[in-house]
Amino acid sequence: MAVVALTAGKGAPGVTTSALALTWTWSRRVLLAECDPAGGSVMAGYLQGQVPADRGLMPLTVAALRSGQLTDRLWEHLVDLDPPHRRRLLLPGLSSASQAASLGPLWDGFAALFRSLEYVEPGYDVLVDCGRLGGDTPWPLLRAADLVALVVRPTLPSVSASVSAVAELHRHVTERSDPTPSLGLMVIGPGPYTTQELSAHLGAPTLVQIPRDSGTAVALGFGGSVRRARPLLTSAAAAESTLRTAIAAGRREVSAAAPRPALTAEVTTRGAV
Ligand SMILES: Nc1ncnc2c1ncn2[C@@H]1O[C@H](COP(=O)(O)OP(=O)(O)OP(=O)(O)O)[C@@H](O)[C@H]1O
Ligand SMILES: [Mg+2]
Repeated sequence: MAVVALTAGKGAPGVTTSALALTWTWSRRVLLAECDPAGGSVMAGYLQGQVPADRGLMPLTVAALRSGQLTDRLWEHLVDLDPPHRRRLLLPGLSSASQAASLGPLWDGFAALFRSLEYVEPGYDVLVDCGRLGGDTPWPLLRAADLVALVVRPTLPSVSASVSAVAELHRHVTERSDPTPSLGLMVIGPGPYTTQELSAHLGAPTLVQIPRDSGTAVALGFGGSVRRARPLLTSAAAAESTLRTAIAAGRREVSAAAPRPALTAEVTTRGAV
């Protein structure tokens, strides 16, 4: 159905935690791709290192460079977060930030791969953890997304960091992609500012609000049982329909902007019957 990219300015507002929460509650088949250039955290965190380290973004890249087959090799590099159903898959991220520079020329290939996954059988939505915006940001992945969610806390440090993040997203993503991804905010936890104030200040709609839920955040960050009735997961579950609506609206805009072929006599006649 879609590619949703999550990113943030500085301050670790909760990109990975929120992406994992969405993955746990997503109603369709979903792939969480950890493409944070600073390195992945789910293998050592939530999965507690209990999965063989030969899977993930870097081993997949090496295998694909050898064989020239990125799509074919993808599936063997994924981890099933909810075995044996293969409904919630993880592409583990880099084990070191030093690997990020070598991936720079390859992000376009990954962007095309992620976009293609809605058309495979069975299809997958893709949630991409792009990490904090900075030097090695995977811009092609953000440009390929249907929706870019900027994760922000409603606090002064986070909002200040997000001002330049929004400017960067406009410069590198919305002004340079066709179709243009929708941009919205994912607001985490409490703070002195309302979502209306955040949206007005940052010039982007608030799509999702995730409450503070430290117990669940710790379980998602360090392993443990994740309870679906907890606020972090119920809000993530509720967020899906808002995200889908924003994506559908963005896609409708794209198709409305596409050139309209002239109506043929045959079509007009059929329409009149
Ligand atoms: N909804 C939440 N409620 C409470 N704590 C949260 C929530 N979301 C995230 N946290 C906490 O915030 C901290 C940062 O979260 P996380 O690692 O997801 O951020 P990040 O933006 O991915 O950071 P980084 O840039 O380091 O990858 C963690 O300690 C996590 O447990
Ligand atoms: Mg993270």
